[in-house]
Amino acid sequence: MKTLVTGAGGQVGAELVRKLRQRGETVVPTDRVVPEGADENYRALDVTNRGELDELLAQEQPDVVYHLAAVLSARGEENPQATYEVNQTGTYNVLEACRQAGVRRVVFTSSIAVFGPRVPDPTPDDAPLSPTTMYGVTKVAGELLGAYYEHRYGLDFRGVRFPGLISAAEPGGGTSDYALYMYVEGVRRGAYEAFCRPETRIPLMYMPDGIRALVEIGQAPKSRLTRCVYNIAAFSPTAADIAQSVERALSRVSIAFSPDPHRQAILDSWPRALDDAPARRDWDWAPAYDLEAMTEELVSELRAREGDERRGPREAGG
Ligand code: SER
Repeated sequence: MKTLVTGAGGQVGAELVRKLRQRGETVVPTDRVVPEGADENYRALDVTNRGELDELLAQEQPDVVYHLAAVLSARGEENPQATYEVNQTGTYNVLEACRQAGVRRVVFTSSIAVFGPRVPDPTPDDAPLSPTTMYGVTKVAGELLGAYYEHRYGLDFRGVRFPGLISAAEPGGGTSDYALYMYVEGVRRGAYEAFCRPETRIPLMYMPDGIRALVEIGQAPKSRLTRCVYNIAAFSPTAADIAQSVERALSRVSIAFSPDPHRQAILDSWPRALDDAPARRDWDWAPAYDLEAMTEELVSELRAREGDERRGPREAGG
C-alpha cells in the first residue's frame, strides 16, 4: 500500500511519516518546500496548486492520502486570507484531485478548534460547531466537505479532531503551543513565560498517542465506523498543572504567566475536555499517556537532544 502525506514537514507530519515507514509502508512525504537532507521520495507539493496536485497523484498513484497541510490557529489569525487559501482551497483541491485520481481513502486531521464558546463540558462529537478562528472555520468546512465526498462519490474519508499536541518538535504557530514550550524552553533555558492564564484548561495529547490515533483511524475497518471524524482525548490539565508537572521533573525551572489577549481569547473559546466515547467504541481508541507519563518521557527526550546539541554533530553520533 502506498501512502502520500501532505504537510509532511510539520509537527505531526514528520512523525507520522517515520511511524508509517517503521510499519513497512511505502510513503511519499510532501510539503511546500522539500526540507534539506530529505530522502529522494520526498516531493514538493503546494496544496493550493491544483495542477501540481493532479500531476503528483498521477505519477505516484497512492492508495491513501493523509492530508495534514494547514496553517494553525494563532498564525492563521495573522493572515486569515492566506489561511483560507491553504486550509480551505487546499482541502477542496486534495479531495477533488483524489476523487479524480481514484485515491481510495483520505485521512484528515481536524481539531478542537472546530468548536466555539458555550459547548458542553466534556464536549461530545456532535456539539455545535461555531469556531471563532479561520483555522477552526476551515477545519469544520474540511470535515463537511470530506463527508460530502464520501456520500456523493464514495471516497473513504475519515479523520480525528486532535487536542493540542505536545512533542519535542518545534510547533507551527498553534494556540496550544504554551504547553509544549513549558517543556522545550524549560529544558533549554530553565524559564518560560506562558501566553495564557494559569487556570486555562484545554484538551491536550502527547504526540506518540496522536500519531498512533492517525494510524489506527487510517486502518480501522470501514464497517465499524459510524461517523467520518472523531473526537479523541487524552488529558485536560490546567496550564498551572502542566507548569507544576514540569517543575517536579526539572530541578531548576521558572514558569510564569503573561496572558496574550488574542491567544487567550482563542483558548477560552475551545472545549475544556473532549468526550471521545464513539472513537473508543468504534475503533478501540485509548490514549497511553497521561500528563505525568508524558512529562517523564518528554523531559528525558528533550534533555538528550540538548546534550546532543551541546556536544555538536560529530560527537552526538557516537
Ligand atoms: N494545536 C492547534 C492550534 O493550536 C489546535 O488544533 O492551532
